[in-house]
Amino acid sequence: MSPEVKPDFLISPEGLRIDGRRVDELRPIELKVGVLKQADGSASIRQGKTYIIAAVYGPRELHPRHLTLNDRAYLRVVYRMATFSVPDRKRPAPSRREKEISMVIANALKPVIFLEEYPKAVIDVFVTVIQADGGTRCAAINAASLALADAGIPMRSLVPAVAVGKADGHLLVDLGDEEDKYGQGDIPMATIPHSDEIVLLQQDGSFTREEIMEAAQMGINSCKYLHELQKDALKLAYARKPGDEGDDDDDYEDDLEHDLGEAEIPGDE
Ligand code: CDP
Repeated sequence: MSPEVKPDFLISPEGLRIDGRRVDELRPIELKVGVLKQADGSASIRQGKTYIIAAVYGPRELHPRHLTLNDRAYLRVVYRMATFSVPDRKRPAPSRREKEISMVIANALKPVIFLEEYPKAVIDVFVTVIQADGGTRCAAINAASLALADAGIPMRSLVPAVAVGKADGHLLVDLGDEEDKYGQGDIPMATIPHSDEIVLLQQDGSFTREEIMEAAQMGINSCKYLHELQKDALKLAYARKPGDEGDDDDDYEDDLEHDLGEAEIPGDE
């Protein structure tokens, strides 16, 4: 592989990014549900060249027992990068970055899962980055929330996530690896789309107050789009094929739309 060279600019004079995207344009995204046979639920995401698989097991008995929570399930997220997922071989031992991202993903997902329905149990979410090209924590959240839904875990909502960053003085959504490395900063965020609640917000680099407000709005808009893609991926996995016996397909799609789009959060008006 040839060594990576810092690009002369990240935004062209025409306002386009190095891969030709507009500032508010996401990379091509492919979401698939039910990609693994052994897991209770699974999903994969391709976001540009970033490729991630998420697997969910449980709710099941928790080991070691001293981690048990008497009033709710323990959500255990393990984010790992394959050794071959990055240009320099990733050492197999868990890094501090991987532990931090595992915690960040868990914190983004906890607010939407009815953990109180499974006291003392564990819900395991394993995320493996097969290929990293920027934005892996957000892509991981997109896939993990789909895998949880695939496992039949009761949830208030799916959780779409995206990073908004800054390069050459422009705000841009869904950073690729070069934009992440050579840009001026990034703000990974995740939302609950029907309430615009933000369940993940981190910041790397410096932004003015106005930039943060604009970035948050760009992120919320992108998350709404990602949420539609997530719902489509679930429908594709679960909608009956033409000719299947049972409910009328239109009724089924309407029910699914209702279940996915309008789940109510207790206490949320
Ligand atoms: O992936 P994300 O943007 O959420 O997290 P990051 O810590 O900001 O990492 C940005 C990118 O750096 C990753 O997506 C990878 O493409 C790259 N990276 C790498 O090349 N080698 C590592 N050991 C870790 C990250």
